[in-house]
Amino acid sequence: MSNLNYSSYLKIESLLSLPTPLTSPDERATHSAEHFFIVTHQTSELWLSQVLLDLSVGAAALREGHYMQAAEVIERCAVVIEMMTGHLDVLSMMSPSRFKEFRGNLGTASGRQSTQFRSLDRDLGMDAHHQSPLFEALEGACERTGVELDSLVFPESPEPNLSRVVAAMLNLSRKVWKWKATHVELVVHMIGTSERGTGNTSGAHFLAARLDMPFPRLWEAVSRAHR
Ligand code: HEM
Repeated sequence: MSNLNYSSYLKIESLLSLPTPLTSPDERATHSAEHFFIVTHQTSELWLSQVLLDLSVGAAALREGHYMQAAEVIERCAVVIEMMTGHLDVLSMMSPSRFKEFRGNLGTASGRQSTQFRSLDRDLGMDAHHQSPLFEALEGACERTGVELDSLVFPESPEPNLSRVVAAMLNLSRKVWKWKATHVELVVHMIGTSERGTGNTSGAHFLAARLDMPFPRLWEAVSRAHR
């Protein structure tokens, strides 16, 4: 018989030891606000690990011709990203003055240093130096089945299952864009438009200039399909 229980299987003790605010617990409200800030980031990183896993599973499924399985995991990614946008919305309930009270604790730590968020951009075709494995797998599937990518962007396509994958990718793209736009909004709320970020960028302007659509080549296909 297994000795596993809820706590040992899920490693609850290690999990709950992760958020460690630097503000003293004596400063109750600020300590709790910093705890909230840390939990928001840590849960987002955890959810993102699931998204990155699912994107690789989706690419493998596409390569093997399992289109429904690919669509299923990509659709799940979109909902997870939407949930992460919800996290940002809750964080935006914090006042800028409360954030100011512990912002100094961050030092030069910045979301820009997140390797997982960078991987997400790469996996979604937003890095000029890397191809998106999922998009490459989609192109491979088009070649194998002899259908044009442009014919897949509308539901009445010659390959409905592959079209569902494309619809899931377009939806995921919009959800990721929305996360990024909500993040810019949060940054403006917290530090305004001319305060630099802890990672030493220009802050809101730097982020707003990076609001490109993920899977850019899919959106080009949508535009072509209208001609
Ligand atoms: C009070 C809330 C937040 C503020 C004020 C804030 C501020 C910023 C700023 C100013 C930048 C630009 C880089 C820099 O100079 O530091 C940035 C980048 C970033 N932040 Fe946040 N952020 C907040 C919350 C979050 C949360 C909850 C996440 C998700 C876990 C996150 C993830 C990122 C990522 C991934 C980048 C890099 C974006 C890119 O390079 O395109 N941020 N943040």
